[in-house]
Amino acid sequence: MTIRVVRVAGTVYQEWMLTKRRGAGLGAGALVLLIAFAGCGGRSSAPASLPLPPTSKDALRAPEDFAGIPDRDDRARALFVEASRVMLHPRCTNCHPAGDSPTQGNDGRLHDPPVARGPKDRGVPALECTSCHQDRNVELARVPGAPSWHLAPIEMAWADKTPATLCDQLKDRKRNGDRSLDQVVEHTAHDALVGWGWAPGHGREPVPGTRAQFTALVAAWVKEGAACPKDEVKR
Ligand code: HEC
Ligand code: HEC
Repeated sequence: MTIRVVRVAGTVYQEWMLTKRRGAGLGAGALVLLIAFAGCGGRSSAPASLPLPPTSKDALRAPEDFAGIPDRDDRARALFVEASRVMLHPRCTNCHPAGDSPTQGNDGRLHDPPVARGPKDRGVPALECTSCHQDRNVELARVPGAPSWHLAPIEMAWADKTPATLCDQLKDRKRNGDRSLDQVVEHTAHDALVGWGWAPGHGREPVPGTRAQFTALVAAWVKEGAACPKDEVKR
């Protein structure tokens, strides 16, 4: 089955918001709603239409699924929105918070026990992240872990961002750890804290798809010129 849509990136985003709200895979109802969105949200500009295969909350589309989008920038935007389903997942945003404390769970509640990021994002001297978090998940104690567990610096805060804002930030060397886009791809492919998102332990919901699929999406976005979704995609 395929869906015909207009405003590619916007629609992928709306679809993603729907799956988030429902907490379940896309059902037929969601598809119908989407088509209604595409039809009556109608803007006069020439619609880019494409058949996008349906996906579910746990899966990612492949870069090839976007090949039918004729405009290169639109293709990059849609690829980014798909990749942002991983980046804006609580497994990632809990450790890329906008404040001074990590968050936890799928509802992003404050870390319990209370901890502070400290001067180097590694906690405070008496209570460093690694006094509890080891280099792997400790199932019995429910403590998640991966090597060098610590918070993403505040300029890399992702929590509550839209795909459009996240995209701008990810391309800004002042806010991405002074990385080229190829180095961002490299980080997604090899960093241990990123990898934890697919094996978070203790019944935590992993981020969608596989790490290889996610890296392929980010790499394809870069290869297609790394355009960012437009503001109208924001909610
Ligand atoms: C006193 C022990 C302790 C310290 C110190 C600590 N944590 Fe945790 N942390 C935990 C426990 C236990 C959990 C699991 C809570 C649960 O799932 O019920 C947790 C969960 C988390 C999660 C949530 C994972 C998710 O997606 O649900 C993140 C992120 C996190 N900690 C980051 C940090 C960071 C960063 C630091 C240092 C600034 C830190 N923690 C310091 C004990 C600690
Ligand atoms: C345990 C905490 C933690 C978790 C969980 C985590 N990150 Fe990070 N992330 C960091 C830290 C720390 C940095 C900064 C590393 C550096 O600059 O060397 C970072 C930086 C990044 C960067 C590069 C800089 C930027 O633009 O933000 C990317 C990309 C990234 N993380 C992706 C992810 C993704 C995707 C996930 C979820 C699958 C994730 N991270 C989960 C701690 C975490």
